[in-house]
Amino acid sequence: MSTIHWTENDAPQSARWHSENAAPLPQRTVVADDRTKANDAYRHACEGTALLWRGDFHNARHLLQAMGRRIDRKPPRPSTSPRERFHQHRRRSSHRARVLGKLLVLLDDDYTLALRRAPDVRQACLEAYGPPQGRIAVSLRELLGVIGAHQWRLKGIDVPALGTRIHPHYGVFAPVRDEYVDLVAHAPLPPSTRHSLATSTAFDLGTGTGVLAAVLARRGIQYVVATDISPRALTCAKENVHRLALTGRIEVSGPDLFPQGRADLVVCNPPWLPARPTGPVEQGVYDPDSSMLRSFLAGLSDHLRPGGEGWLILSDLAEHLGLRTRQQLLDAVQAAQLRVMDKIDTKPRHPRSKDATDPLHTARNAETTSLWRLAPAP
Ligand SMILES: C[S@@+](CC[C@H](N)C(=O)[O-])C[C@H]1O[C@@H](n2cnc3c(N)ncnc32)[C@H](O)[C@@H]1O
Repeated sequence: MSTIHWTENDAPQSARWHSENAAPLPQRTVVADDRTKANDAYRHACEGTALLWRGDFHNARHLLQAMGRRIDRKPPRPSTSPRERFHQHRRRSSHRARVLGKLLVLLDDDYTLALRRAPDVRQACLEAYGPPQGRIAVSLRELLGVIGAHQWRLKGIDVPALGTRIHPHYGVFAPVRDEYVDLVAHAPLPPSTRHSLATSTAFDLGTGTGVLAAVLARRGIQYVVATDISPRALTCAKENVHRLALTGRIEVSGPDLFPQGRADLVVCNPPWLPARPTGPVEQGVYDPDSSMLRSFLAGLSDHLRPGGEGWLILSDLAEHLGLRTRQQLLDAVQAAQLRVMDKIDTKPRHPRSKDATDPLHTARNAETTSLWRLAPAP
């Protein structure tokens, strides 16, 4: 167990250190409050010293923003290639996370945040962290993410293809982009399911919130098995399946990628970028060495019923960023003894794809999202 130590009113204090992204234990912790100047806080944080906030909650948020502005003042170095731009962007993001992650708050042993004007964060923390196990110190930045996730979980995200809302949990990939969900909602179902919808089965690998499993069930597939490696995703998918009254039609299981048996349709929307996630929260975005993509391709034939298909949902953002070539993808498909029956393309519509201030704008603007219909090669 990692513990942070600090001195307050001349008395030694300690609390358990908690970081979802496994940020290292701060070397040193000092107390900060409403009198702390942003320049001093920023300097401390850059030097690796954590600041345990004891002042007003909203002032802490303002301080965090002021520290963020100081980080952003340093212009990025000109990069020569999209790949270099991507890696520089990730380095800058992790530097930002490291520095801003040094502003800490204490959560009491029932997750009460005992700061002036602090919101009640107990339910949000319970959802994200599970039952409390004593007083913990967390970064304010992480806590703000936990609070935001709680709001999303309460309100849900509108999924037009389902005509209802999906409720993401903390750390679970949220279907904020609807273009890929629409692809799954409209692609022609494999003939084997159309001949006998009543006995049709599908697998949804890496189900996240369960959104694609729900779309398949709503399209008439009788029985869908949804898997995920993330315990949070499994809990979240089960809850959404229950909300949508699809409990008898969708079974959620994990942590293996493929469930037992074979299906008419195997859908997989792996993380789109081959890179290492910095923590469990990024597991839906980055697929180290394309391992999930490769495992899906390698196992597909052995999990398809005769006449069945695999649907790979993938954007070509990795190609525009120079992280993977189209040929590498086609080679992986061929190595798995699969053939491409069809590819259905769409363009992202989410606001970020139009945001010219995004450092990856050029690649995002060129991005195409595709549903690859795959079948065993003859
Ligand atoms: C891009 S998200 C897709 C989530 C959901 N299917 C959707 O379309 O909104 C990828 C999902 O794959 C899961 N995942 C990553 N690696 C996995 C693995 N090896 N086995 C099973 N699931 C995995 C992640 O936890 C995440 O939920």
